[in-house]
Amino acid sequence: MQRFAHFSLLCAYLHPIMKRNIAIFASGSGSNAENIIRYLKNNSLLAVQLVVSNKIDAFVLERARRLNVPSAVFSKKEWESGKEVLALLADYRIDFIVLAGFLLRIPDSLLHAYPDKIINIHPSLLPKFGGKGMYGDKVHEAVVASGETESGITIHYINEHYDEGGVIFQTTCPVLPTDTAADVAAKVHALEYAHYPRIIEEVFRSAVATD
Ligand code: GRF
Repeated sequence: MQRFAHFSLLCAYLHPIMKRNIAIFASGSGSNAENIIRYLKNNSLLAVQLVVSNKIDAFVLERARRLNVPSAVFSKKEWESGKEVLALLADYRIDFIVLAGFLLRIPDSLLHAYPDKIINIHPSLLPKFGGKGMYGDKVHEAVVASGETESGITIHYINEHYDEGGVIFQTTCPVLPTDTAADVAAKVHALEYAHYPRIIEEVFRSAVATD
């Protein structure tokens, strides 16, 4: 594991007693991660305390550094066991996990430790264009190739199967006959930015209320 800026581990402990901590897992650019961190910055209940990745060169790590959120990177082997990841989440007293472009399977140990507390966003209207290997531009290319007239986003809980956890929220955007995969990606990203932070807040607030 490689850790960055972990001096702020203290923040996770010094929070007012009722505050709940979120970790964001991301493998790539992290534009959603940044949007979520900014949205929750002064939230009375929820705080993003940690960014975790599987890629040492993921731009999300640079975004985390700029936003003063500690981050860590685990190797593929460490992700497979889940032991070190769980230990770090425990160090940070993480209550909820948000996946934002995270490409590895979540180990069973994490699924068991965080039942209904891990949510993901998928850039299509699941069950369409989901499953193993369907991520990023591949999704939008498949949407265009199959002549769909709409696409959108799905926010859902995570379980043992890729993209099959309970759906929390879906919304759509039109796909025009002239749209390229890049056009669809831009529309879908706009939906992600508009809705993901708000839905995260709603889902975790109601989870806390029924704890
Ligand atoms: C998003 O489209 C998200 O739906 C998918 O991966 C992409 C991540 O983009 N799961 P970014 O790294 O947040 O820019």
